[in-house]
Amino acid sequence: MAMNSSKPPGARQIYETLREQVIAGVFGEDGLLPSSRALAVELGISRTTVTVAYEQLLAEGFITVRQGARPRVASAVVDRGVPDSRPKRSGPIRLSAYGERIRSVPVWRDQVANQLVADFRYGDLAPSDFPAGIWKRAMNAVMARRPGPLVYNDPRGSRRLRVALQGYLWRARTLRCELNQIMIVNGSQQGLDLCARLLLDPADRFVIENPCYAMARHVFSGTGALAVPIAVDGEGLKTDMLRGVEARLAYVTPSHQFPLGGVMTISRRRQLIEWARQNGAYVIEDDYDSEYRYDINPVPPLHGLGNSDNVVYLGTISKTLSPTLRIGYLVVPPDLQEVFATAKQLIDRHSPVAEQEALASLIESGAYESHVRRVRRLNGERRQTLLNRLRLAFGDRIAIEGADAGLHIVVRLADLPSVLELALIEEARRIGIGLHSVTSLYDPAIAEAQSDRLSLVMGYSALEIRQIERGVELLAQAVASVKGRLDERTR
Ligand SMILES: Cc1ncc(COP(=O)(O)O)c(C=O)c1O
Repeated sequence: MAMNSSKPPGARQIYETLREQVIAGVFGEDGLLPSSRALAVELGISRTTVTVAYEQLLAEGFITVRQGARPRVASAVVDRGVPDSRPKRSGPIRLSAYGERIRSVPVWRDQVANQLVADFRYGDLAPSDFPAGIWKRAMNAVMARRPGPLVYNDPRGSRRLRVALQGYLWRARTLRCELNQIMIVNGSQQGLDLCARLLLDPADRFVIENPCYAMARHVFSGTGALAVPIAVDGEGLKTDMLRGVEARLAYVTPSHQFPLGGVMTISRRRQLIEWARQNGAYVIEDDYDSEYRYDINPVPPLHGLGNSDNVVYLGTISKTLSPTLRIGYLVVPPDLQEVFATAKQLIDRHSPVAEQEALASLIESGAYESHVRRVRRLNGERRQTLLNRLRLAFGDRIAIEGADAGLHIVVRLADLPSVLELALIEEARRIGIGLHSVTSLYDPAIAEAQSDRLSLVMGYSALEIRQIERGVELLAQAVASVKGRLDERTR
C-alpha cells in the first residue's frame, strides 16, 4: 500500500487510505484486502496499528472480517458501485443561457506542482514577499477581540476597513470619495461581476481594450452583452475610435494597460469621460497594479476627472499583499451605492470579516504603506534584472513595452514570427520555463491590431532574481532552437 509520507503511518492514515481504496474499487473482483500481518510487515509498523484501522472500517460497514481469513470489501459497498458505474444521464446537460455562454471559458488550474526553473506567468507574487509576521500579529489581534457578536455584517464591508481605505485612497491615489461609496468585494473580480450584473443586459454593448484582461471580457460577455474591442497603443485606449460608438460601459486599465502596459494620457482620459457622459455610459476603471510605478510617482486615477458620477473605480490588494486573500474594493458613484450593496448582499451577504479587520489595522498603523514601498523596491529589482538580462541575451533583436509600471512587461522578438508562438511556448516548457502568449488576449475577430512578431507577456513578481537570470538564458536557448528549425525549413 503506497502512503504519501516518509513517516510510519498511524491507524488514522491507514484507515483513510484503505477507505478511499475500498470506495474506488481498488480491491477488484474478489474484494480481498491484505491480512493485518502482511500489511504491518509491508509498512514496517505494529500489527495493532493495522488492526485498529481495520476495526474502524469494520464498524463503518466498509469491510467484513472472518476469523482466520483476510478482510473482504463488504457486499453493500460493492453493490453501491464505484463512481464510474453511476447511471449515466440521458440527453445533454441543460444550462441557463448564462451557463451556456460561460461554459467554454477555461477553468484556472492550480499550477504550483509545476517543476519549472522559472514561470513568467503574470499575476502571482513571491511567497517570500508576504509580510507573514505583520499579518499574523494583525490576525491574532483581531481574533483576540473576537468572537464579538456573531451576526451578519454590512454588505458594503467592515466600516473600519472602509474608513482606512478612504484615507489610503486619498493619500496614495489622490482619490477623494464619501465613505458610503466604498465597498469591499472578494477581489476585483467580484467587482467586475457586480458591474456586469448591474450595468449590462443581453445584446447591450460594452467597450473593451484590445488586447485586454481576459477575465474582464469573460465576465462582461457572460451577460450576453456584445464586446466592442478598441485598439490600444502606448497611450492606452485609442479614444478617437470611440466616435460613433454606443455602449453601456467601457472597461479600461488606464494606469498600466493590461497587457501592453501603456499609461493613458490626460487628454485621452478626458475624451473617455466625455464620451461616457454623452452616452450615459459608465467607465470601469481597473486600477489593479498602480502601486508599481518605477520612474515617477504613481499616476493619479481617472476617477476624479470631471465629477466621477459615471466612473466605477476598482482596486485590489492582490498585487500588493496576496491574491489568495481575495480582498478588493470599489468606489461607486453615489447613486449606485444602494444597488451595489443589494447585489453584494444577494451574492454572498458580505466578505469575510476577520481579514478585512486585519487589513484595516495594517493600513491604520502605516504598515501597509511601508510594505507597499518594500515590494515596490523588490519588484523594481526583479524588473531591472529582467530588462538587463533580456538586453544582454537579445540586444536589439527584442522590443520591450510597458516596463515603466506594473509587474509585467511585453516583449516582441525580432527573430520569430507570431505564428511560431505555440512552438516556442512548447519548446520553452520542455527545457523548464513557462512563457505566456499575448495573442490569446486579443479579440479573435480583430487580428490586424496584432504585431506579426512573436510577443510574450512576462510577469516577474513571483520569481527570485536567480530564477529570472536562468529563465532568460533558457528563453534565449528556446528562441535559438525554434529559429534554427525555422531557418532549416526555409533554406
Ligand atoms: C487587469 C487586472 N485586473 C485585476 C486583477 C486582479 O484581480 P483580483 O483582485 O480579482 O485578484 C488582475 C490580476 O491579475 C489584472 O491583471
